[in-house]
Amino acid sequence: MLQPVKYEKLFSTPVFRFQVPEAEAFNAALMEEGNRMRALSEGASKSNRGGWHSEGNLFDNDAPCVVQLRELATQAILEANEKIGAKADPASLALKIFAWMNANPKGGFNAPHTHPGAHWSGVYYVAQPEIEEGNSGMIEFLDPRTDLPNWRILKAAPFRMKKKLRPEPGEMILFPSYLAHWVYPNEADEERWSIAFNGTFRKAKKG
Ligand SMILES: [Fe+2]
Repeated sequence: MLQPVKYEKLFSTPVFRFQVPEAEAFNAALMEEGNRMRALSEGASKSNRGGWHSEGNLFDNDAPCVVQLRELATQAILEANEKIGAKADPASLALKIFAWMNANPKGGFNAPHTHPGAHWSGVYYVAQPEIEEGNSGMIEFLDPRTDLPNWRILKAAPFRMKKKLRPEPGEMILFPSYLAHWVYPNEADEERWSIAFNGTFRKAKKG
């Protein structure tokens, strides 16, 4: 039998899932802060059919729960850099994270998109309504490679065209910002709350 001498996975797409332990009180605090912000920017939410999202960089907000989430997002990004074997010296890089909060009511969804210009994009799940069955609230990633339809016939995991996840409250997912994704409509009566962020590295200024 001819056996391969080497099998490499080229151009793979890393996707991470992190679990924040005992997140109930943390999530309650984030939702309270979100409700407070939403009450202040009701005008923006009216123009925004299918949901509300916060204005500006959420991580400029110094509420303790938001500061804690910024810290967790930073940790997740640095951990991901390590896991993918990034050789850049962390001290040589400056990380900027821009975040926003989303409340998706029944019927709310996000069309396929990428987050151009960033390195890592993430979503932290504050509230994810329970469902019996179906795709409500699932995030689905779409393979960025071309010609994949030809490969479907093999039913092989490396050439799947899409992958969906349904993170629970307290979970944070992290993926490369070029990876297209979308969110299935929320079919539950309760709102789905999530906080999305983009992490972008620049060369740190020496000094
Ligand atoms: Fe997104």
